[in-house]
Amino acid sequence: MIVHLNGKLVPRDQALVSVFDRGFLFGDGLYEGLRAFDGRVVAMDLHVERLRQGLAECRIAWDAAEMAGLTDELLRANNLRDAFIYWQVTRGTPGPGQAVRGRVPAGPMMPTVMGFCYPTSGLAQNAAPAVKRAVISQDTRWLRGRVKSISLLGGVLAAIEAHEHGADDAILVRDGLVAEGTSSNVFVALEDGFGGTRIATPSLQSAPILAGVTRDLLLAADPAIEERSISVRELVEAREIMLTGTLSMVTSVVEIGGRPVGTGRPGPCAAGLLELLLRLIHGGR
Ligand SMILES: Cc1ncc(COP(=O)(O)O)c(C=O)c1O
Repeated sequence: MIVHLNGKLVPRDQALVSVFDRGFLFGDGLYEGLRAFDGRVVAMDLHVERLRQGLAECRIAWDAAEMAGLTDELLRANNLRDAFIYWQVTRGTPGPGQAVRGRVPAGPMMPTVMGFCYPTSGLAQNAAPAVKRAVISQDTRWLRGRVKSISLLGGVLAAIEAHEHGADDAILVRDGLVAEGTSSNVFVALEDGFGGTRIATPSLQSAPILAGVTRDLLLAADPAIEERSISVRELVEAREIMLTGTLSMVTSVVEIGGRPVGTGRPGPCAAGLLELLLRLIHGGR
């Protein structure tokens, strides 16, 4: 595996970072996860914009637009066309003589920029939604959920605890409202009162969640999807629950807290969301 580190492409065992890097000591950094199909990255513009906004909020000086060209270079160096690509930008490492534990950075530093990629399935292998069993967990993470921080301990613990309870993942809730998955956004299919189904996803105002790129693509393509607050009760009574993410695409949650969701099998809404996403990607999004 060839890794990008601070402007250089190096073999993975030569991609070394200082133990005083603020990403390592404080989790003081951001990341992006991207997906390429047949050599083309999905929605690069949205990933660049999300990283740009996160870097600005964190006062880390790096030009997020560089990610596009560097991603193409990294894919070529690894000879990959269907891949997951990970980028991480930390505030950097204090220089000699500078305080290493100050919460306020010792002075301007060069951000540490690291990227790697690994092979994933092609578009044709993603025709059906994957299936998961989930538990409901209280969201104990920080309140700046829109910032794609590398400090993922809250999500990591929720996922570990879900596994300890025999589930695949956790759906996080806060103040009685649905937030998101540990690495995905949540969509629910609800009865519309007229015998039909409507799809809804938590609004960014209703919970501190990430504006997922997959979520954004689906919302832009289907104006019928509602963005609003979703109660835990609506979640457990939903006909279908779907999780969306760059790597997982659309997953169908068939069991929540040990009880079947709807029929207990992936339903038409999960299939429909995945079909829409595949159509967008085929169409060059
Ligand atoms: C907490 C969280 N929410 C949502 C998502 C989905 O975002 P995207 O669709 O941009 O991959 C992720 C992806 O890593 C995530 O970690």
